[in-house]
Amino acid sequence: MIAETVRRFAGEPADVRIHTALRALSCPFGELVAAVPAGARLLDYGCGHGVFSGLAADHAGARVTGVDIDEQKVAVARRHAPASARFSTIEPGDVPPGPWDAITVIDVLYLLPATAQRDLLLGLARELAPGGVLLVKEMDGGQTLKARWMRSQERVMVKVLKRTKGVQLTFTDPDHLRRALDDAGLVTSARPVDRWYPHPHHLIVATRPRGTVG
Ligand SMILES: C[S@@+](CC[C@H](N)C(=O)[O-])C[C@H]1O[C@@H](n2cnc3c(N)ncnc32)[C@H](O)[C@@H]1O
Repeated sequence: MIAETVRRFAGEPADVRIHTALRALSCPFGELVAAVPAGARLLDYGCGHGVFSGLAADHAGARVTGVDIDEQKVAVARRHAPASARFSTIEPGDVPPGPWDAITVIDVLYLLPATAQRDLLLGLARELAPGGVLLVKEMDGGQTLKARWMRSQERVMVKVLKRTKGVQLTFTDPDHLRRALDDAGLVTSARPVDRWYPHPHHLIVATRPRGTVG
């Protein structure tokens, strides 16, 4: 997945090539792609340059809609979009109407205040099709060495280099995020997905039971 990401963004300036290659290297995208149902109508919320969107289109046959508040990243994503992916810019808090078979929110929530995180999750949950799955990948910001390393790195990305657009850094306990999705009527499970990675990746899988609507 790293090699194909490097190939996809080969025509971009060095900063974009490095950023996208590091995303592919440092995030467990393989495990996330494996959780996307084959051929799903997928909303990739906060898609950035579309690294994951492209992988989901190519490997899961997903029909992807990628959205982000960052116009420049969306422009990059568009330039390299596979035929089954499209990208657009949104305003913070906007949720494209579903029904979606799958929704991914990968390393986006930590950039929002806690109340906005919950509101966004509830808004996305409403747009899931019956049987649809919402995949939330965040960092577990606990007190481990991995968490401390990750927090200092993110501070540099958001506050110093300004490579990532965000209001603030709020690493909510994954259990709280999971409970918000339980409250929305979804069936949830959560697990660390950080084996072999230097960062404390954590995945929440939330499914809308068939026969229910948001
Ligand atoms: C760390 S990047 C992750 C990008 C992509 N999901 C990935 O895994 O490569 C976080 C992204 O969230 C976007 N973002 C921040 N706040 C957002 C919001 N309120 N709505 C949508 N996207 C947002 C940023 O512009 C950025 O592209």
